[in-house]
Amino acid sequence: MKTILITGGAGFIGSNFVKLMLDKHPEYKIINIDALTYAGNIENLKEVSDNSNYVFIKADIRDREKIEEIFSLYDIDNVVNFAAESHVDRSIEEPEVFLTTNVIGTQTLLDVAKKYWKVNPEDKYCREYKEGVKFLQVSTDEVYGALGKTGMFVETMPLMPNSPYSASKASADMVVRAYHETFGMPINITRCSNNYGPYQFPEKLIPLMINNCLKEKDLPVYGDGMQVRDWLHVSDHCSAIDTVLHKGVDGEVYNIGGNNEKANIEIIKLIIKTLGKSEDLIKYVKDRPGHDRRYAIDNTKITTELGWEPVYTFEKGIKETIEWYLSNTEWFENIVSGNYVKYYEEMYSGIDEVAASEE
Ligand SMILES: NC(=O)c1ccc[n+]([C@@H]2O[C@H](COP(=O)([O-])OP(=O)(O)OC[C@H]3O[C@@H](n4cnc5c(N)ncnc54)[C@H](O)[C@@H]3O)[C@@H](O)[C@H]2O)c1
Repeated sequence: MKTILITGGAGFIGSNFVKLMLDKHPEYKIINIDALTYAGNIENLKEVSDNSNYVFIKADIRDREKIEEIFSLYDIDNVVNFAAESHVDRSIEEPEVFLTTNVIGTQTLLDVAKKYWKVNPEDKYCREYKEGVKFLQVSTDEVYGALGKTGMFVETMPLMPNSPYSASKASADMVVRAYHETFGMPINITRCSNNYGPYQFPEKLIPLMINNCLKEKDLPVYGDGMQVRDWLHVSDHCSAIDTVLHKGVDGEVYNIGGNNEKANIEIIKLIIKTLGKSEDLIKYVKDRPGHDRRYAIDNTKITTELGWEPVYTFEKGIKETIEWYLSNTEWFENIVSGNYVKYYEEMYSGIDEVAASEE
């Protein structure tokens, strides 16, 4: 049985990935660790909480002692690192936590994994690792910076991040690469475009607009709303990570994208139309500092070398996503009201985290 440590698995993409892995690989043990920051919502994982192959541990990836404890308790084969501060706007207000979690947290995980995975951890020249181990870093296309009207991001491009968020992710990518080059650590890095789908925290564009639109509140649009993103359904992102985890060539970086370039304003107007509301709700606001104009992913490498293909068209994905938010208003309201924090307290309070999670 393989044991996979998923970090940040109570967040948007991580929780979708935990569920995909338990469903697609019922023979694997999945250990999900998450610090449960404002973005972590254990309610996202309600339906798998009784699965005997699933363990949840509340842990901060910067807490070396705790990470060591987890590695000593479980025979971990792979780490898939989603844990991160992920909201660009917040990184402009408060960059420091982005650096500590996204960079130092990643380095802490790498360091502990190296200690447990190296055949001879005492020998600094040893580049031999246990069979089948791998560290997969979940990164973003934002590390490449912004594109003009044409062109696409390819894996060999230099990294030119523009926000504290993307700078912290680019730094983490560099540290992961360095552990591969210096210590021979088996790694892959994935760089994905913007995701949408169920369980996305309502501070991000699509759920925010759906929520505000339903309540007929203003729809704040940065600048002229013509910032272009390459949107991918979260389940396609998760299947791509699963593919890289199993088939990715050691040391390689893979871009993930679905060739779905859309301007923010196009998406907002589509949401308004689908929900039968008025475009008068749109309120243009001053643009965000350093707002990248356009991202677009060239996914040739992962599609041709690993045979991955996205399943969703944008039209199908956005329709299903809007329907999901409409039929999960309670999930939405629990976040907006802050009640989701209580769910964890009610489920786990007073119980030793590691022991409780073994159930
Ligand atoms: N959302 C996107 O469009 C997108 C696109 C490409 C890549 N990514 C990357 O995917 C990953 C997940 O993104 P997301 O949108 O699901 O983010 P998210 O903010 O929804 O989830 C992040 C999770 O990490 C946890 N976390 C934060 N700090 C932690 C720490 N110190 N220790 C342990 N857990 C911690 C949070 O509690 C949360 O559950 C991130 O690394 C992000 O950079 C996201």
